[in-house]
Amino acid sequence: MAYEIAVIPGDGIGNGIVEAVEPLLIQAGKAKDVELDTTWFDWGSERYMQQGEMMPSDGLDTLEKYDAILLGAVGHPDVPDHVTLRGLRLPITKGFQQDVCIRPTRLYEGVESPLKNQSAGDIDFRVYRQNTEGEYADVGGREHQGTSNEVAVQSAVFTKKATERIVRPAFEAASNREGHLTNVTKSNAQAYGMVFWDDVVEEVSQEYPDVTVERLLVDAASMDFVRRPNEFDVIVASNLFGDILTDIGGAISGSLGLAPSTNINPTGEYPSMFEPVHGSAFDIMGEGIANPIATILSSAMMMDHLGEEDLAEVLRETVETQLADPDAPKTPDIGGQATTVDVVNDIESRIID
Ligand code: NAI
Ligand code: MG
Repeated sequence: MAYEIAVIPGDGIGNGIVEAVEPLLIQAGKAKDVELDTTWFDWGSERYMQQGEMMPSDGLDTLEKYDAILLGAVGHPDVPDHVTLRGLRLPITKGFQQDVCIRPTRLYEGVESPLKNQSAGDIDFRVYRQNTEGEYADVGGREHQGTSNEVAVQSAVFTKKATERIVRPAFEAASNREGHLTNVTKSNAQAYGMVFWDDVVEEVSQEYPDVTVERLLVDAASMDFVRRPNEFDVIVASNLFGDILTDIGGAISGSLGLAPSTNINPTGEYPSMFEPVHGSAFDIMGEGIANPIATILSSAMMMDHLGEEDLAEVLRETVETQLADPDAPKTPDIGGQATTVDVVNDIESRIID
C-alpha cells in the first residue's frame, strides 16, 4: 500500500531527529512493500519569528488530505511556550479531534532504569491520555492586566463525548492486556469535572466486566509510578495528568528519548498525528545527540494505525534488539556516546541488510 505522510519536524531536536528518521522509515517501508510518500512542512518557531504564525492559517486544510502526520517537537527558547504549543500542536490535535493519546512505557533490555531492582519488561504499561480538552481547553482570560486588580481565569472542560472517546479505548486495551485499568483523577479537590469523569468510567466499566478498575488520585499515582511501576497495566487520565505522568514514565524507563506517543482521531474522519512524548529539548538542541528512538517507535505506532502491522513490528523488534546489543551505538541519555545519526544508521542497517 502507499501512504501520503505529512512531516512536520518543528523545532529544536525535532529537526535533527526527523531528518534522520524519515529516510529510515522510507527504506524500512520498501523492505515491507509499503510506500511512504512524504511532504515536508517547515512550520514552527522559525516561521513564527519571520511571519508571525507557527503554521499558515489554512494549515489544517492542507494537512487534512494526508493519511497521517509525523511531528518532531515544538518549542523555542526565544518564543513563549504557550505560543508555540497553541500555534501548532494544539490546533492540530483539537481541529482533527485527535482525542486518543496513547503512550506506552516500557523498560527495554539494555536500558537502565533509575529505579532500583527493575529489569527489562518489569515496567510495561500504557497511559491513555485525553487529548483534546480537559485542562488544556482554551477557555479563560485575563482582565485588568498590569494592574494590582489583575485576574486570570483558566477553566477545564470535560464533555461526555470526548471523555468516552478516551475511556472506552482504555478499557478495550485493558481487556486485551492484563484486565487492569487504573483511573487517575483528582476527584477529591475537583468535584465537577473529575467526578463527572469518574462517573463516565463507572458507566463504561459496565461494558467490560472482565476489567478491574483501580482508582488513584494523581498525586498518589505519581508516587506509585516511582514506587510500584510494575503493577500498572493500562492507565486512563485527563489531558494534564496524562501529560505529567508520561514524563515520569519516560524517566523511570530510562529516558524520555525512548517514549512514543499517538494523537488518534478515533473516527478516521481526519488524519492522526504521531510524535514522541518529549519536546524540543533546549538543553541539547543543535548537538546532534538526541535519541531518535521515541520518534521511531512513534512511527511504528503510525504504521499500526495505518494497518501496516508487519512494518510496525519490524521497527519495534529492531529497536528492541538494537537496545539490547551492548556493542550498538547509543545516545548519551541512555549511557552511550553516539549521535542521532549513528543510531538511526545502525537501526537502518539492521532492517535493510
Ligand atoms: P523536553 O521534553 O524537551 O526535555 C526534557 C528533558 O528530557 C531534557 O533534559 C531533554 O534533554 C531530555 N530529552 C528529551 N528528549 C530527548 C531525546 N530525544 N534524547 C535525549 N534527551 C531528551 O521538555 P522541556 O525541556 O520542558 O521543554 C522544551 C520545549 O519543548 C518547551 O518549549 C516545551 O514547551 C516544548 N515541548 C513540546 C512538546 C511537543 O512538541 N509535543 C512536548 C513537551 C515540551
Ligand atoms: Mg508533555
